[in-house]
Amino acid sequence: HLSVRERIEKKRKAALVGGGQKRIDAQHKRFPGDSVVTGRGRINGRLVYVFSQDFTVFGGSLSGAHAQKICKIMDQAMTVGAPVIGLNDSGGARIQEGVESLAGYADIFLRNVMASGVVPQISLIMGPCAGGAVYSPALTDFTFMVKDTSYLFITGPDVVKSVTNEDVTQEELGGAKTHTTVSGVAHHAFENDIEALLNLREFFNFLPLSNQDPAPIRECHDPSDRLVPSLDTIVPFESTKAYDMLDIIQAVLDAKDFFEIMPNYAKNIVVGFARMNGRTVGIVGNQPKVASGCLDINSSVKGARFVRFCDAFNIPIITFVDVPGFLPGTAQEYGGIIRHGAKLLFAFAEATVPKITIITRKAYGGAYDVMSSKHLRGDVNYAWPTAEVAVMGAKGAVQIIFRGKENQAEAEAEYVDKFANPFPAAVRGFVDDIIEPATTRKKICSDLEVLASKKQVNPWKKHANIPL
Ligand code: COA
Repeated sequence: HLSVRERIEKKRKAALVGGGQKRIDAQHKRFPGDSVVTGRGRINGRLVYVFSQDFTVFGGSLSGAHAQKICKIMDQAMTVGAPVIGLNDSGGARIQEGVESLAGYADIFLRNVMASGVVPQISLIMGPCAGGAVYSPALTDFTFMVKDTSYLFITGPDVVKSVTNEDVTQEELGGAKTHTTVSGVAHHAFENDIEALLNLREFFNFLPLSNQDPAPIRECHDPSDRLVPSLDTIVPFESTKAYDMLDIIQAVLDAKDFFEIMPNYAKNIVVGFARMNGRTVGIVGNQPKVASGCLDINSSVKGARFVRFCDAFNIPIITFVDVPGFLPGTAQEYGGIIRHGAKLLFAFAEATVPKITIITRKAYGGAYDVMSSKHLRGDVNYAWPTAEVAVMGAKGAVQIIFRGKENQAEAEAEYVDKFANPFPAAVRGFVDDIIEPATTRKKICSDLEVLASKKQVNPWKKHANIPL
């Protein structure tokens, strides 16, 4: 374990504050600085505001003073337009302070909400976080956790036992594995404090400082016109056979460098950050390797939140499509796949950042529309020759329109011939071009260059009403 100040210094030269505030209740001991260290610093020369909670002081619990210190840096971050990183390690509201600490939480929550979409907010969970302590991270854009030492839960195992009679450990209830594979509360889990902090710095380098600031452009040594011949044969001849979308994604990115978000949750969709010719891009891809790449509740929500982050911070979105549709079944329908799937549709539709789409294989049914289609204002929509843009697969289609008829096999072959290819979409202008897969990187880099000056505005509104 690193101490709080060591944690901040890992992020190099953060100027620290603290010690000056003495608003701690007379009933309990005074600790200079209370249970949080706050300040500003730079990561790779770029400004960031940081707070780091100190579990060694009252379990990192949130007092009025603790909250004031966090609010102060959040206000400064908003004034100058810089991200806020929280290193969280807190037992929740300071019990000795009662409503004052609850008020402190609400002050932070309100600022989290006001800052949402204005400056990036990142939470790194580095110890147990209980009660109110979980809601500020939940309001931020990204939550990362440290394996085996960090927890997030509304109430701990003891309370769970007394209320629901469940026996559960801290780790099972709210550990990194639970939140990055089951609940979807956290976006990444790292081995230890140091790895988490180093990855956080790496991650920070992708992001703009605010919604008014362009993402940093990194010098790129990977030629933007590099051909990727391996892509010409990557999609299996058999349409039902799986392949790994990550192989395609990595092959086209600068130096194969992909910072995947939620790599172990809803793996039927892949999302993450990368660079193309030095520019930050958001990548979304269906994953044929998992559930055939079907969209379901969890993947829709995962994708939607990612797309909205990119849109809020002017990061272009590149979408790789191989989707046979939405996952059927009662579990999905009862769980509300209709309203959750609508989130992804909504997110792609409202996004005004540059949107480039590549259909590698299937683009079936409603899912075709959802996945950054031309109809949702896709700027450049490509299809590979292996693309199949249709209402559904041949088998299902023939079963419906030729029900009970003979020669099903013949009908299927005819359907494949007619629909299981990119041409019907191309002749209607719904895909802009059918491209050789090897040229994908080159095309995307060139399009991004052009689209850098894209300007599109949605109609004025107080705010939209995304289906929740
Ligand atoms: N307010 C004041 N002090 C707190 C606190 C809180 N909310 N949470 C923890 N502390 C103190 C403990 O009293 C303990 O103090 P001590 O070292 O003087 O004995 C110290 O922080 C460490 O806590 P401890 O319980 O020994 O650590 P743990 O690792 O076993 O458990 C938690 C960590 C967070 C699971 C546990 O402390 C907890 O459940 N806290 C309360 C969570 C909560 O319900 N908060 C209020 C709701 S918002």
